Amino acid sequence: MNVKDKVVMITGAGGGLGSEMARLLCRNGAKVFILDLDAEKGQATADDINKSGGSAYFLKVDVTSEADWQAAVNKVIETCGKLDVLVNNAGINIRKPVEEMNIDEWCTMMKVNTGSVFLGCKYAIPVMRKNGGGVIINTSSVCGLIGHKYTPEAYTASKGAVTMLTKAIASRYAKDGVRCNSIHPSTVDTPLVQALFKDPERKVERLGEVPLGRLATADDVANAVLYLASDEASFINGVALPVDGGVTCY
Ligand SMILES: NC(=O)c1ccc[n+]([C@@H]2O[C@H](COP(=O)([O-])OP(=O)(O)OC[C@H]3O[C@@H](n4cnc5c(N)ncnc54)[C@H](O)[C@@H]3O)[C@@H](O)[C@H]2O)c1
Repeated sequence: MNVKDKVVMITGAGGGLGSEMARLLCRNGAKVFILDLDAEKGQATADDINKSGGSAYFLKVDVTSEADWQAAVNKVIETCGKLDVLVNNAGINIRKPVEEMNIDEWCTMMKVNTGSVFLGCKYAIPVMRKNGGGVIINTSSVCGLIGHKYTPEAYTASKGAVTMLTKAIASRYAKDGVRCNSIHPSTVDTPLVQALFKDPERKVERLGEVPLGRLATADDVANAVLYLASDEASFINGVALPVDGGVTCY
């Protein structure tokens, strides 16, 4: 997959899935800006990538802040002269069902999970257009495609909005050479999930919904991002790509 010398911004790349995306893109020759609220984690990830021969920069950014987005995009242009790829990946989950959630918590979910994608697109598109085009990849979830009974409604609503924002941007900005796609991971194998799986009933319940019979890995998700970012995906636009072992196929 060709992403060599592409300039990439990834939000929430201090840890979790975003850091694996950053590592994989760097291993394939991209220059990656890691945007995260957590400066310690973000700088450590960038240092680690640079030590192993990659090219990564850390920018402390709150993805809900318009001023932070403006400053971050300016910094990328000042440093590298262009922006090829934006991955809107940062997200949160306040794990409460709708009847227990208050309106402030609902608004926080929307602001972080959906507002951040809006702001990222708002500031990336003009610089991509100037450069003849670019790629936007938004991390949604299987919950951006289906109502999932184990997941809070606010998360599902926020990720559903990301799915449709992606398609709307894909159709409007294709004329400017901007491709926009979303990825939809199912539950990823993390220490949090392994703790949940100590309860055998939970394990059977969760794995039972995956036709391929296993959890997603961070590598599965990062590989999807690598493909969508690459030149090989040059005709892929407006796609909602599940990375879910078939969870959403029935
Ligand atoms: N892990 C899963 O099972 C799973 C499944 C489907 C979708 N997703 C989605 O994938 C994305 C990444 O998930 P993850 O599991 O790696 O999460 P994570 O919690 O491990 O990492 C999220 C990162 O985002 C950062 N962040 C949070 N709020 C921020 C803000 N306001 N500004 C800047 N950075 C902020 C955090 O500091 C953290 O480094 C999220 O959008 C999540 O909804 C995750």
